[in-house]
Amino acid sequence: MVTADLVIGNIGQLVTGEPSLGEGPLGVVEGAAVAAFDGRIVWVGREADLDVHVAVGPARPRMDRIDARGAVALPGFVDSHTHLIFAGSREQEYALRARGASYQEIAAAGGGILSTVVATRAAGLDELINLAMPRLRAALAHGTTTMEIKSGYGLATADEIKMLECARRLGELQPVEIHPNFCGAHEVPPAYRGRSDAYVDLIIDEMLPAVAERKLARYIDVFCEEGVFSVDQARRILESGAGWGLRAKFHADEFVTLGGAELAAEVRALSADHLLRARVEGVAKMKEAGVTATLLPGTAFFLGLPYAPARTFLDTGVRVALASDFNPGSSMGLNLQLVMTMAVSQMKMSPEEALLGATLHGACALGLEAEVGSLAPGKQCDLLLCDVPNWRHLSYFYGVNHVSRVIKRGALVYP
Ligand code: NIG
Ligand code: FE
Repeated sequence: MVTADLVIGNIGQLVTGEPSLGEGPLGVVEGAAVAAFDGRIVWVGREADLDVHVAVGPARPRMDRIDARGAVALPGFVDSHTHLIFAGSREQEYALRARGASYQEIAAAGGGILSTVVATRAAGLDELINLAMPRLRAALAHGTTTMEIKSGYGLATADEIKMLECARRLGELQPVEIHPNFCGAHEVPPAYRGRSDAYVDLIIDEMLPAVAERKLARYIDVFCEEGVFSVDQARRILESGAGWGLRAKFHADEFVTLGGAELAAEVRALSADHLLRARVEGVAKMKEAGVTATLLPGTAFFLGLPYAPARTFLDTGVRVALASDFNPGSSMGLNLQLVMTMAVSQMKMSPEEALLGATLHGACALGLEAEVGSLAPGKQCDLLLCDVPNWRHLSYFYGVNHVSRVIKRGALVYP
């Protein structure tokens, strides 16, 4: 017998995400219930077996009940790569791209990341919070319960800290759990044009200590890309971050094959992200080193680029996560149900692989697989209820929101 203070019952189909807890690779249970205590799952199984396993406890004699009314239940989505905090917007670039301009051409002409840097530097902390809150509400409504957010539109110590303080405040102000990633190496700021090594020194000598001493980030990121930061510069930054206890999670081989995948294996990153141009041998090295490959099909979709060769990567045995890359320039979308559709229809992932990518493997990409990403006893009770006939409809019937209720740490937080 386990003690519970919450039961979610009358679940038509439960996707636990743990093969040992149900049928098939997703561990599916029909006619299911989930029991939780203090926001953590204590039991999952067939509802018919609930009474023999679960009881109210003396400490909390009242049992809350949520009637799923036959809905499909699954783990809350883990969006492991976002640039959610920014000011300004770039809908003009989106229009220019439709007329043939590339992302890099727009950046070279003064648009791109640097235009968002100008707007974000000019915004105060409260303004950044107010801009981010509705985006987070939309993410939550679409089922995201845990999110990584990067800095990287400050590119100066005070502005990077402002972005990371914004991330911390957002985590306190609303239900989506936020995990900040320091991305001071998102672009070379104009004052350091042609002197990128000096900017790398600034990151290592000034920004990193300031961020780490304030405990404002958990991860460290670099845009390792031709014309931005080289593999050697990325290695210096990621190794310095490791010295401050920050795990590497970085942009690798997005537009040009530089060897970011190999670097991710070398520094034992949590994840290497994008990988549109990664060498498959590099991805195989990632697999050996336990690095998660985070694919961001929304970016390829939004930029009109070919998709990452997910199938080839999966054949190496590497763990593949899916994330939104939500940002104003290359992926202005945060619906992970739609990202799953892109993964299946464009990258030929199976619907099972896509669902794991947006849940458990997203958690792995954040080093949070013991806490979130699947519905297993001991983990947080982060659960979505969806009005679909079965879980496959989540990515099959696309472009609409199937999430009707969101539970975070055992509390109903949406609607
Ligand atoms: O992941 N590649 C670098 N960073 C973002 C784009 C950010 C921006 O354009 O503002 C990305 O695609
Ligand atoms: Fe990104």
